[in-house]
Amino acid sequence: MASLVSIPVFSTLPTIPPSIQLLCQAIILSVFIPFVIIMSICLTLFDIVNGIFYKEKNDTHKVILITGASSGIGEAIALEYAKPGVILGLLGRNEDRLNKVIHQCQDKGAECVMLKMDISDTKALTELLERFDDDHPIDLLFANAAQVGVTRDNSDNVEWEDAWKRLIEVNYMGNICTVMTAYKRMKQRKFVTSSIFGFFGPPNTCWYNSTKSALNSFARDLRYIAEPYNIRVSLITPGLIDSNMTASPQPLPFTASSLSSPNELAKVIKRQLESNIFCIAWPFSQMLLAWIGSTFPPRVLLMVSWAYGTFFQTHANNLALT
Ligand SMILES: NC(=O)c1ccc[n+]([C@@H]2O[C@H](COP(=O)([O-])OP(=O)(O)OC[C@H]3O[C@@H](n4cnc5c(N)ncnc54)[C@H](OP(=O)(O)O)[C@@H]3O)[C@@H](O)[C@H]2O)c1
Repeated sequence: MASLVSIPVFSTLPTIPPSIQLLCQAIILSVFIPFVIIMSICLTLFDIVNGIFYKEKNDTHKVILITGASSGIGEAIALEYAKPGVILGLLGRNEDRLNKVIHQCQDKGAECVMLKMDISDTKALTELLERFDDDHPIDLLFANAAQVGVTRDNSDNVEWEDAWKRLIEVNYMGNICTVMTAYKRMKQRKFVTSSIFGFFGPPNTCWYNSTKSALNSFARDLRYIAEPYNIRVSLITPGLIDSNMTASPQPLPFTASSLSSPNELAKVIKRQLESNIFCIAWPFSQMLLAWIGSTFPPRVLLMVSWAYGTFFQTHANNLALT
């Protein structure tokens, strides 16, 4: 049996009493801040130089597969990449909406293949993606399909207790299955996976947030694993975007004016992917708040989460499982 590396200094550290753990975390955090600042400056410079030398030509991707392409962000990405010479595989469940997107992409000169599928059926999904890849080897994949649901509605008239399974099957298992099916076929090619609120979100959407957190770490670790095969993994973490997900019945307490455009997001994604950026976060102001939140010690985060949840619960109307 292979032996694990043991680090004696950790095993000899005294246990910190729970009552002062928060204070210790804060002190340790403040000691690390100068290192984080220096590392951030170095990595920013590295990424800028890397981005300049890595600049991809716009026409590198011939076959692009987009899940959740029938509306919102997936639709905007499809339109952003649609042009003559490009084959788009557009996946979703709603045939009418998919057809609408297909016509718009065809008008821009792209060839389109409709992939009607519920991604929670992972066996059928694997077969469909493999068939598509046999005919059109995938260059670029956007694993984008997802659903949102709140954990409790204002009037307690939604049967929310059993809704967690669906979100895990779609948001987590469906997306991992999409990514891994393509991954096996994509040696020497490239791909992208997408996710969100995983840094920090309101507790009212706890299942959604946790599936996204899982996708965040999945994407980060897969980027390392995939690198030797020349497969590039990026993580897309949008803020609040104007789409079906944020529309009526409104699962989130935000008005349309505070939502950003999916078309603008699609442009940002395309530009940043060309420079091989790992985490594509937009709008930046919203992501800044989520990032800051995610670095707080757990006890502080619990308090912020509580305040966020109370605000959400008070201000949202018609909370619904979607
Ligand atoms: N809108 C935001 O504020 C926001 C913010 C951050 C991250 N995101 C993420 O961005 C991605 C796209 O969301 P969006 O805002 O564009 O929402 P949307 O307009 O509701 O789009 C969701 C897409 O996913 C598809 N989908 C949902 N369940 C599916 C299933 N079981 N099988 C196959 N396809 C399914 C839907 O197609 P059908 O209905 O045709 O199946 C639709 O095309 C999601 O991963 C979401 O979590 C959104």
